[in-house]
Amino acid sequence: MPDVNGRQNLVTKTILILNGPNLNLLGKREPDIYGRDSLDDVARECTVTANEFGLTCELKQTNHEGELIDWIHQARGVAAGIIINPAAFTHTSVALLDALNTFEGPVLEVHISNIHKREAFRHYSYVSGRADGVIAGFGVQGYSLAVQRMARLLA
Ligand code: DQA
Repeated sequence: MPDVNGRQNLVTKTILILNGPNLNLLGKREPDIYGRDSLDDVARECTVTANEFGLTCELKQTNHEGELIDWIHQARGVAAGIIINPAAFTHTSVALLDALNTFEGPVLEVHISNIHKREAFRHYSYVSGRADGVIAGFGVQGYSLAVQRMARLLA
């Protein structure tokens, strides 16, 4: 997209894809619920999709709430948008919601499983109070669908 002076904007926008606890075991952990694809497989698919839209993405995972919050702070003014699967922190973390509220760009929330079809404690998400969109129950495909949506939001 040309800027006001007619120059092409050559700065590539980066989407940060954050993952919470236990998702390092994706593919091995409860495969009946979460499938057999690993987080590396997800990263590869998201990169392909992001590149199709002229974007880049960076996927990270941590088991530590504070680290997730630090990464969100570091993304301020750097990442164009955040896609987040907060895993169990979805249902517990006001601190994560507060951190996401400090981020100026679009936020999309992804859950591999349909959290609304599962135990009652998974039905409430603190993060949804900030998210511009939520995908749940599409398996790992939800990540690349979120990248597509993010590309539209950033266009
Ligand atoms: C999850 C759903 C959460 O309830 C759970 O704690 C997870 C994964 C999902 O992707 O379906 O760890 O976020």
